[in-house]
Amino acid sequence: MSMENRSLVTIDDLSNQEIMSVFSLADEMSDSIMEQSSLCQGKIMASLFFEPSTRTRLSFEAAMHRLGGSVISVAEMQNTSLAKGESIADMARVVGSYADIIVIRHPWEGAAKVVADYAGVPVINAGDGGHEHPTQTLCDLYTIKKERQTLDGLKIALWGDLKYGRTIHSLAYALARFGATIHFRPGSGLGLPEHVTRKLIRDYGGILERFNNIEGAEKENIFPLDAIYVTPSEPHQLTNIPDVNIQIELEKGIDALYVTRLQKERLESPVTGSELEKGYPVVNRKLLKGKQFKRTLVMHPLPRVDELAYEIDADPRSMYFKQAAWGLPIRMALIALLLGAKQVGVSEKKGLTITPKIDYPVYDRDSGVTCKNKKCVSAQQTEMRYIKPMFKIVANKPLILRCIYCDHETQPPYIASSKWHSGILEKRRYYSSDSYILERIKSEYLIIFDSEKEAQAEGYKPSEYAHISVKKQ
Ligand code: NCD
Repeated sequence: MSMENRSLVTIDDLSNQEIMSVFSLADEMSDSIMEQSSLCQGKIMASLFFEPSTRTRLSFEAAMHRLGGSVISVAEMQNTSLAKGESIADMARVVGSYADIIVIRHPWEGAAKVVADYAGVPVINAGDGGHEHPTQTLCDLYTIKKERQTLDGLKIALWGDLKYGRTIHSLAYALARFGATIHFRPGSGLGLPEHVTRKLIRDYGGILERFNNIEGAEKENIFPLDAIYVTPSEPHQLTNIPDVNIQIELEKGIDALYVTRLQKERLESPVTGSELEKGYPVVNRKLLKGKQFKRTLVMHPLPRVDELAYEIDADPRSMYFKQAAWGLPIRMALIALLLGAKQVGVSEKKGLTITPKIDYPVYDRDSGVTCKNKKCVSAQQTEMRYIKPMFKIVANKPLILRCIYCDHETQPPYIASSKWHSGILEKRRYYSSDSYILERIKSEYLIIFDSEKEAQAEGYKPSEYAHISVKKQ
């Protein structure tokens, strides 16, 4: 099977089976790094890093060199025409005419998707703001697979900055697809964004449990804690809430403890970094004495600051430098696959596989709603000129839209139907989005507004259901 010309923007661009195939090829690459030097000869990779990077950028560039290809790169936005107000779509078109593959890191959420939409060559997301970082997830999963021989049904703890940590978001989605139980322990005010939690529930069939007042928890330094369980047998039903005793669960041990640094560069004022540092989880020798961590892999995407003590570096459970080192064969495998220099085997993936729900109707009318996430690529001045806001309609009761660029959700207040007025201006009416009228409008005729002002500007008048929530009895 060929993966030629595909892009990797979100971890869900790869199926579980494809992830396994990337891993088999990475095994092959790491056993024979010096023999790969003609695989991508003559090919050029553009490496566009508009945020700081050490591991990701250097491992991508080293990977391309090891494959015999060459690299052109930009590491400062100030040195490109983006600083002159050029859109990233224009940049993508141009770079796509010089290079065979593009790797991009950018502070705006959804930027990699825009580049992939316009470049005409495969694009790899090396981190788009606080959204996703799928190739780090490949390194993380590969490390776990190497150490544990399986990715199925693991118990993983994600600690630290779960709000802004893009590696956390991609990893949580992938773990859910392998049927993991994921425990979250955020720094204060740094919990998993609601839209990520809801996606884990809605798309992956996760079941959320909140454990707040567990006896002895504070003392053991493991709470507050939320957990998401994924039940492979019934991926999209929220029935069968498992009968969980968190203490018994923890005693059985955690397979991996993944901690991240506070992503200071993404904090929104007025919250200061030092306030958030108070009570931020720290992984150190003392913590690892706990019996639940006896066989735990200690993981971190790096760079670390204070959340991961240097004293545990020599501990055999510490995996973070291995995670970084696996970046080379993983990225070699990925580049070779996307350039069509290698094909993936067709071996069946055995074991647990949750196929995420992706077939939501898409809302992409010109008029109407915009993404409310200020960091979304679709909300930027330079990009608004051409990006049409697009959303997946992920729920109807209430109406919830998910931005296709950044995944943030919005609950728009007003709706109308393009069919009911049959083009007659007088008949144009808008309704409250939580009135039962919503159920009567087919998604292809649905028009959604952010405000009454907008609805009126489009020539719609308030209906009798515009201001009251009328629920069907
Ligand atoms: C991470 C990133 O850039 O999101 N680093 C990396 O790619 N290994 C994590 C971080 O910066 O904290």
